Amino acid sequence: MPHLIQPTLQTQRLILRPFIPSDAEAVRQLAGDHRVAEPTANIPHPYPHDAADNWIASHTELLNAMTGVTFAVTSKDDGSLLGAVSLCRMSSVDQRAELGYWIGFPHWSRGICAEAVTALIDFGHRELQITRVVGLCLARNPGSARVLQKVGFQAEGRWIKHVNHRGTFEDLLAFGLILSGR
Ligand SMILES: CC(C)(COP(=O)(O)OP(=O)(O)OC[C@H]1O[C@@H](n2cnc3c(N)ncnc32)[C@H](O)[C@@H]1OP(=O)(O)O)[C@@H](O)C(=O)NCCC(=O)NCCS
Repeated sequence: MPHLIQPTLQTQRLILRPFIPSDAEAVRQLAGDHRVAEPTANIPHPYPHDAADNWIASHTELLNAMTGVTFAVTSKDDGSLLGAVSLCRMSSVDQRAELGYWIGFPHWSRGICAEAVTALIDFGHRELQITRVVGLCLARNPGSARVLQKVGFQAEGRWIKHVNHRGTFEDLLAFGLILSGR
């Protein structure tokens, strides 16, 4: 994969841009909400005060290694932070990435995640030559599965008791998207 200067992406309602240190307070507010953190693999709960700063600071290293790229999902109207979308575990050999996303609870079910993910995948395909994207979610997270189906992912199966999620072994649903060029 080529070296990347992370761009800003625009959709009808959203601007997707790199996170900056001053986003930390909004991240604490949104990702600190148990409803957002609980179904994810990576957001701690309770949310430590410095977790947002550390998470934002980690993006540069992932980008430089070309293993992950994370965008702040912000409102075109007022610039407020709505959530985050990312391509992670990127492999240039396999031309593949895994999808990650969360949206602040006040903004759920308005199509924000699907709109942001569509732009992210288009960017990954166009700029990073990614031709396969994987989406994984807890089997008990229908909102997340619905996002993946809405943007064109195919269901690829159910992995039984695949993850130790906060102390309980849980099933995952696996989804995949094949992009042209593969
Ligand atoms: C999953 C998440 C990112 C979705 O964000 P969003 O902006 O609300 O997503 P969208 O509005 O684009 O799509 C959500 C879809 O799921 C549907 N949905 C939501 N909750 C649902 C439920 N309990 N059962 C069935 N469908 C549900 C919505 O109606 C919507 O579908 P529709 O557009 O056909 O009506 C958000 O809920 C979130 O951040 N959850 C916590 C973090 C998380 O789960 N991240 C993913 C980890 S794999």
